[in-house]
Amino acid sequence: MISRLPGALARAADTLRLVLRVAALSIRLPRHPDGLWDDFWSGVSAGSLHEAVIWEATGGDEIDQHLERAASLLDTGLTIVDIGCGTGAVSRRLAGVFPAVVGADVSRGAVEAARSASAGMPHLKFMVLDATDPEAVAALSRDLGEVNVFVRGVFHVLSPRRQAALARAIQPLLGTRGRIYLVESNVSGGALNYLRGLGATGRGIPGPLRQAIASLPKPGHFGARQRRRVFPARDWTVIAEGATTLDTAPMHGDGSGVRIPAYWAALGRRHG
Ligand SMILES: C[S@@+](CC[C@H](N)C(=O)[O-])C[C@H]1O[C@@H](n2cnc3c(N)ncnc32)[C@H](O)[C@@H]1O
Repeated sequence: MISRLPGALARAADTLRLVLRVAALSIRLPRHPDGLWDDFWSGVSAGSLHEAVIWEATGGDEIDQHLERAASLLDTGLTIVDIGCGTGAVSRRLAGVFPAVVGADVSRGAVEAARSASAGMPHLKFMVLDATDPEAVAALSRDLGEVNVFVRGVFHVLSPRRQAALARAIQPLLGTRGRIYLVESNVSGGALNYLRGLGATGRGIPGPLRQAIASLPKPGHFGARQRRRVFPARDWTVIAEGATTLDTAPMHGDGSGVRIPAYWAALGRRHG
């Protein structure tokens, strides 16, 4: 017991330093989350936010795994809407599997960056859309007819109320044949566990994580429990689900990223 005390004390001191670092980074004026997202993407485009975007992995096979599952579980004859597409890196990969892709994001800055990075790809379109707004999504549904929906890393950044609003808003998009494929980070334990898993300590926080803490809404986690609440069984059928990992951008000096525990699911609407 006594011999373990110095280690435990050092750990407690490190935790305190980490909490203080995170608190200092998080101080900012109150701002609606959608505004924070737009500030973030505009800052990335303008170069004032110059660290790597933490969820944009540059290597690894994470996206290949989603494409493989989506190709086997969704109707690949239908268009797919990539909700919360960011700068469209995953939308461009989806264009290799589905005949047309519509990337939708609440941030105009993200959509502009996605458009310029996707020039010359005629089956790929981008639009500004708050996907929790049922009227805006219904208008998109009238334009597109029935489609699939892809979501990576959006539910876990929304409040529980907006998570439920997003799932309800998506329903009309799917028609009878469309399905949703979602993948979300799902780290067990509290926020400190999440941060430590991403390489943060009291001595320092990797740049991409520091940038995210300072600029973005605080993320939560999204797993089977949250999915059951947000996609109630009276309206939704689970086609398949499981545990997976999300790859981050390089977080360390040696260029390596981190694999974050995550949850994926494919769902369809329950009819009749
Ligand atoms: C963690 S990022 C994931 C980006 C992208 N899906 C990817 O995996 O690279 C979350 C994205 O969701 C977008 N977003 C947040 N709230 C949204 C909303 N209500 N409607 C549409 N997009 C939203 C943000 O602007 C951001 O681009």
